[in-house]
Amino acid sequence: MKTEIIKLDVNKPDWVRLDYAAEVLGNGGLVAFPTETVYGLGANALDEKAVSGIFKAKGRPSDNPLIVHISAVNELDKLVSGISKRGCMLMEEFWPGPLTLVMPKSDAVHGIVTAGLNTVAVRMPSHPIALALIKKAGIPVAAPSANSSGRPSPTCAEHVIDDLSGKVDVIIDGGRVEVGLESTVLDIISEPPVILRPGGVTLEQLRQLLGAVGTDPSLLTGVAGNVIPRSPGMKYRHYAPRARVIVIEGHLDKVVEEIIRLSVKYEEEGVRTGILATDETRERYRTGEIVSLGSRNNPGTIASNLFHSLRYFDDRDTEVILAEAVEGEGMGLAIMNRLNKASGYNIVRV
Ligand code: TXA
Ligand code: MG
Repeated sequence: MKTEIIKLDVNKPDWVRLDYAAEVLGNGGLVAFPTETVYGLGANALDEKAVSGIFKAKGRPSDNPLIVHISAVNELDKLVSGISKRGCMLMEEFWPGPLTLVMPKSDAVHGIVTAGLNTVAVRMPSHPIALALIKKAGIPVAAPSANSSGRPSPTCAEHVIDDLSGKVDVIIDGGRVEVGLESTVLDIISEPPVILRPGGVTLEQLRQLLGAVGTDPSLLTGVAGNVIPRSPGMKYRHYAPRARVIVIEGHLDKVVEEIIRLSVKYEEEGVRTGILATDETRERYRTGEIVSLGSRNNPGTIASNLFHSLRYFDDRDTEVILAEAVEGEGMGLAIMNRLNKASGYNIVRV
């Protein structure tokens, strides 16, 4: 398949070629597009065959359900069997934006989208290109992150091209995304609602609006072998670069000491080592390739650089990545969820 790349300037919304991409979607094709979180790989959510193409292009296990993207709240009616008062409050506060709501599904949503679950995950992205594309296409758009299954989610079009070129019809290049990590997935059927995946909207923000909000116990530690995950995506080793990732957690000085010790050891062994540092610590390292994710005072920056840096290390054929843990509050919860997952829960506590 020939993949067409369409470059759009997010600041100059005369996106004539967006009509073509919308048409491709309407005709059952696959279109990768930027959202504010990460790039998504879209297909008509109501077209079973089109949706099956997503699983094929990504190599995604069929038991991992997709998020359906909409451009206006009234498009929800045909996707869900009812909207709770809590759902309305959340939409009013956080849509469009990085919050995905898990709701009871309607009969119109095919089981291939929801992996046979009786719920459907829906979100309204805030990225102007995503919104315009969905609106033009006039259909709900099923879209997982636009990476090959298991790899870090794409934060720019080059990542999508690396993973999916030749496997999808169109890739819209809208530049680098803003949030850099996926949306928060919130189950609003459970009482109280439960975060199944932390993301762009934080636990603290949700608690401020709703009061009690739970977090799935596996978010930072992974799903135990004998447990059925509440969100199928939890059980996969996601976000993994090719390198082995080791997360070092504890008092910051101890963390730095341990990373120095390990990087010296790996250097002696001739292992290509990368260090995921922060602005506060980067000067303290001497060995390995050092990348700062940003200041510890600005977790949003760290989040937006995380997948990007994991992919960067892949491009450099890095074999081991030593990553500093960050505080788990605010965006820190999503950062540590992704980092721990990328490491396959290879976490060293010092
Ligand atoms: O930010 C995002 O959410 C991006 C952009 C493209 O919108 N999309 C994304 O999709 O991250 P994906 O497929 O990579 O992740 C969807 C997650 C998976 O962990 C999946 O298991 C969960 O949402 N999910 C989807 N439907 C669900 C459902 N009905 N119940 C529970 N979890 C669900
Ligand atoms: Mg994904």
